[in-house]
This record gives sequence, structure tokens and C-alpha cells, in this order.
Amino acid sequence: MRRALIPALCSLALLACGGDRPKDAGAPQARQPEATVSIVYVTPAPRTPSPPPTPAPPKLCLLTRQSGVAATYVPPNLVTLPKAITAPDSSVQLRQDAADAVSRLIAAAREDGQVLVAVSGYRSYEYQAEVLRQEIRTYGEERARKQVAEPGHSEHQLGVALDIAPARRPFDLEEAFGDTPEGRWVALHAPEFGFVISYPQGKEAITGYIYEPWHVRYVGLEVAQQMTGAAFTLNEYLPRNGMAACPPDATVERQPVASR
Ligand code: DAL
Ligand code: ZN
Repeated sequence: MRRALIPALCSLALLACGGDRPKDAGAPQARQPEATVSIVYVTPAPRTPSPPPTPAPPKLCLLTRQSGVAATYVPPNLVTLPKAITAPDSSVQLRQDAADAVSRLIAAAREDGQVLVAVSGYRSYEYQAEVLRQEIRTYGEERARKQVAEPGHSEHQLGVALDIAPARRPFDLEEAFGDTPEGRWVALHAPEFGFVISYPQGKEAITGYIYEPWHVRYVGLEVAQQMTGAAFTLNEYLPRNGMAACPPDATVERQPVASR
């Protein structure tokens, strides 16, 4: 109905719709072709088959062994978590929204009798390189690379991922955490605070890393709940939603580290 009405209206209002009307349109006979032209002019273009994917906010981009961020990338709005919710002698930084969300998560866990602390948050490219070197020295090349990302490929460099552990044993990051009361609490409740486990059990072939029940990434409430509902990993969810890789302009976000 709407398609038919627009050409009809434009035929009546040639000046408004047909901007390229000839200047010497004096004789009535000469007006006929103009009416035809104006009808063609307003015919809507055919619809494209599907809308383009939603642009990817940098904090939601996918990091894999193949796809990374620049060595110079530093996330904006980094803040330092309060000492009360971090492991002893640890300074843990995250982007502001991830920091606020993990503070709420840890407070809720404590109300349920599970005492958690944040162990490791934002890591610079250089620090991630040092973590990997250290792991290789400790465990050997093969194992180290299954559990530590190359610099430029770690979610820790995005400032939205962190390692979380029981306060009673904060530095034992191992698979068994998933079977502790604290680990089960994290697996069950993290999505309520916008977090997902980046490297879930049984998904090693998809994520490229061993099961890490302690490594969670802030993706926001909506995405966390969609992912949980679909039982998707980030490797499955993000490409389906137009966020397959970190955009090149991820290198331009630079801000000094703030303290809370
Ligand atoms: N442990 C994860 C894969 C990292 O190093 O970012
Ligand atoms: Zn981690």
C-alpha cells in the first residue's frame, strides 16, 4: 500500500520529488515524460538480503591463537580492585565495568558462604610474555602453551578477564577448582553478573586451551545469559554475532591507570 502511494503523490508534486525537471517545461504535452521519470525516481530500492552484523565493541572481540590485539593495546578505564577482594600481595586491575561487576559477584558469593578473591586481571603484552616464559620454564613448552596464551592473544590484555580463586587457596589455579564449592558457585552464578568461563570443560578443541574454571571474562549481562542459554563458548558466540576479531582501532585506546 505504501509503495503504491509514494509514486502517486510524487506525480502530483513534481517539484518536490523530481529534482532534475527540465527548465523549459511549458507545453502540456512535454510534461508527460516528466511524470514517468518522477515515478521511477521514488521507487524504493530492493531490500538487501540481511542486515549487516552489529559493530563489535572492542571489549567483546574474540581473541584466539590466530587472532590477537596489537602489542601496544592498553584498555581504557582501568581501575585497581580493592585489596579486600584480591589475593595477598596482588594488584589486580580491570576495566571499570568489569571491576564493578566482579565486586558485586564476590560480595554475592560471600553472602552465600563462598569467599573468593581476584588473583590476576589486566596483563600488559610484556607481562603476558613473562607469564608464558615462566610457565615454559616450569612445565615445558607443550603444556605451557595449552594453558597460557601468547602475548597479544590473551583476554587478560583486554582488561575484562580475570582469574578468580578461593581465598583459602588463592594461588592454586587448577582444574580441581571446578569441583570445589567456590568453583561450583562461580560456574553457576557468574552469568548473573555478566561473566562467562572462557575455557569450559570439554570445549578444549573449540577454545584451544585446557579447561580453566578460574578464568572468567566480563561480557555483560545480556551476552552472558545468551551464551549460557545456548551453551556457547566465546569462540562460537562472538563470530555468530559479528565480533569475530578485535578491530584494528583497538590499538588507539590508551589511558593512564587509575586507582580506586
Ligand atoms: N590462561 C589464558 C589462556 C591466558 O593466558 O590468557
Ligand atoms: Zn586467566
